[in-house]
Amino acid sequence: AVSGMTARGAFIVFEGVDRCGKTTQTQRLVAALQSRKVDVELCRFPDRTTATGKIIDSYLKNGVELDDHAVHLLFSANRWESAQAIRKKLAAGTTLIVDRYAHSGVCFSAAKQGMDIEWCKAPDAGLPAPDAVIFLKLAIADAMKRGQFGEERYEKQDFQTKVLDNFMQMKTDSWRVIDAKRPIDAIAEEIETLALDIINSCADKPLETLWK
Ligand code: TYD
Repeated sequence: AVSGMTARGAFIVFEGVDRCGKTTQTQRLVAALQSRKVDVELCRFPDRTTATGKIIDSYLKNGVELDDHAVHLLFSANRWESAQAIRKKLAAGTTLIVDRYAHSGVCFSAAKQGMDIEWCKAPDAGLPAPDAVIFLKLAIADAMKRGQFGEERYEKQDFQTKVLDNFMQMKTDSWRVIDAKRPIDAIAEEIETLALDIINSCADKPLETLWK
């Protein structure tokens, strides 16, 4: 970074199927980075606190029925609501560790009937793009050994299997794939090293936009 200028923060997104350990690992990473005095914040999508997030929350908890396309657009709108804040925080030097983002949006919706990956990608085009996608890879059989999926709408074996297939279709060479079957500490250590490297390497690179 040029001296006298604040290096921008990194936009690091974690993806994976339900129970892959994203929530544990994103929290651990934020704590580890904070102890190294990195300016960092944790975010997650869906953000259930906003107006769209409240509808999404109710839908996921099986409280309301909504058309699949409409729900897909709500998840996307829920990201668009944060887009300006994300750009501002990154520019001010804050690194964002994000628990799910647009790839979840695409892979979960495209696991339903009648919406393919291309259709699902369209509404997110133009959002800030992650500097890195860290994918916690876990077979559905292994995810299920961690205890039953929860009560929410998508937490079912067949559905999660389709979601994982979609992630594998969307994966690019730039994704950092982590074997999520290993012990929590080993994964956390690998991720911390990876994240420090990403933070350093994107400090003087412009933020890109989806889907390029
Ligand atoms: P999340 O709140 O991360 O739940 P969990 O902690 O149980 O993983 O996500 C809720 C569900 O919403 C999850 O099954 C993934 C799904 N989802 C979508 O279908 N579309 C999206 O755009 C996002 C961000 C999540």
